[in-house]
Amino acid sequence: MRHLLVTGGCGFIGANFIRFVLDESDFNGCIINVDKLTYAGNPENLADRVEAWGPRYRFIQADIVDRPAMEKIFAELAIDSVCHFAAESHVDRSIVAPDAFVQTNIVGTHVLLDICRQRSPAIQRFHHVSTDEVYGDLGREGYFTESTAYRPSSPYSASKAASDHLVRAFQRTYGLPVTICNCSNNYGPYQFPEKLIPLMVLNALDGKPLPVYGDGAQVRDWLFVRDHCRALWQVMTQGRRGETYNVGGNCEMANLQVVEMVCDLVDEMAPRSPAGPRRDLITFVTDRPGHDRRYAIDCAKIQSELGWQPEESFATGLRKTVQWYLGHRAWVARIQSGAYREWIASHYGIRDEG
Ligand code: NAD
Ligand code: DAU
Repeated sequence: MRHLLVTGGCGFIGANFIRFVLDESDFNGCIINVDKLTYAGNPENLADRVEAWGPRYRFIQADIVDRPAMEKIFAELAIDSVCHFAAESHVDRSIVAPDAFVQTNIVGTHVLLDICRQRSPAIQRFHHVSTDEVYGDLGREGYFTESTAYRPSSPYSASKAASDHLVRAFQRTYGLPVTICNCSNNYGPYQFPEKLIPLMVLNALDGKPLPVYGDGAQVRDWLFVRDHCRALWQVMTQGRRGETYNVGGNCEMANLQVVEMVCDLVDEMAPRSPAGPRRDLITFVTDRPGHDRRYAIDCAKIQSELGWQPEESFATGLRKTVQWYLGHRAWVARIQSGAYREWIASHYGIRDEG
């Protein structure tokens, strides 16, 4: 791999992945980051490293659904491998407005696959970044394995399931060298504060209500983002072509438990006066429609085949995460005020789509 195309590299996991690969791995090629810069894309997530990376990093603002734009990038930059993150990623938004999820997650993935098929054998690896949500609601017992049947509940998870099926079909039909990871809930630096953990950290800091959906007993498996990036890189470089690997943190937590841990960490790290425990801000609100009760991942395959293990426990990872948000108040302020969109508009001429 010399010219690695990363899609969605200005988002949460994509930015962490680019940082990991260019700063911590043995990769000595260059990364071309293609991102549309939706509300979730923020070039600031990489800005402090761009000068140091020099010609090893290039950013192109483009939409993966735009086939001519994608064809030009593949041809002119001799792309030989792809790590595909770009997606609409927020379940709540998919319930309100599913169209963009179908466009980016399904049509956009198809555009990339079809270009790769046509450029084969120049493409050495197409890695698709996917989610455990494709498997749907687990019930009280058991774990998702790589052979669990797909039963997506939300427009988001249905669109990711469709994209996974396309990726596998392109492997089976055209022999495209693909790999897929289906990963559980990530948390860590640079996560957009619409997702549970950063939203709770920032609301707790600001003394705002902490909205817990339904009874808060829904269970998710949590993984620190750097551990996911390590897994993605191992699968891309050592995983068997055509294979799927489940990735998770062996860390099942009820949402309410997560929110309470966040409250206690914020109380410890940012005591306020007059002192009042942040747990008092917890507010139970109407449940998310179609809300899955439990996800849990069996990641024995990636552990036994590739020797991958999470390095971070939830306690250490959550502490690092809260510390990161406390130490990046300017980053947070630019998102909360909308100033980050102004910066993008002035540099790329993109107007907000909401
Ligand atoms: P994110 O919303 O933070 O970032 C998505 C990025 O994709 C943004 O930079 C956005 O601008 C870009 N993008 C959106 N539409 C695009 C388009 N049409 N063309 C080009 N770029 C576009 O998402 P994330 O949380 O970093 O998730 C990244 C990937 O990982 C997604 O595919 C998601 O399904 C998957 N995933 C996420 C998690 C999680 O917990 N966040 C867990 C498992 C899998
Ligand atoms: O499981 C992997 C998935 O994790 C990824 O595929 C998605 O891209 C990612 O967004 C995430 O989906 P979730 O819906 O699980 O993440 P979210 O942070 O939105 O919610 C986590 C849980 O917390 C979920 O059960 C809903 C609940 N929740 C969420 C928010 C934002 C609340 O109770 N209150 C909230 O305000």
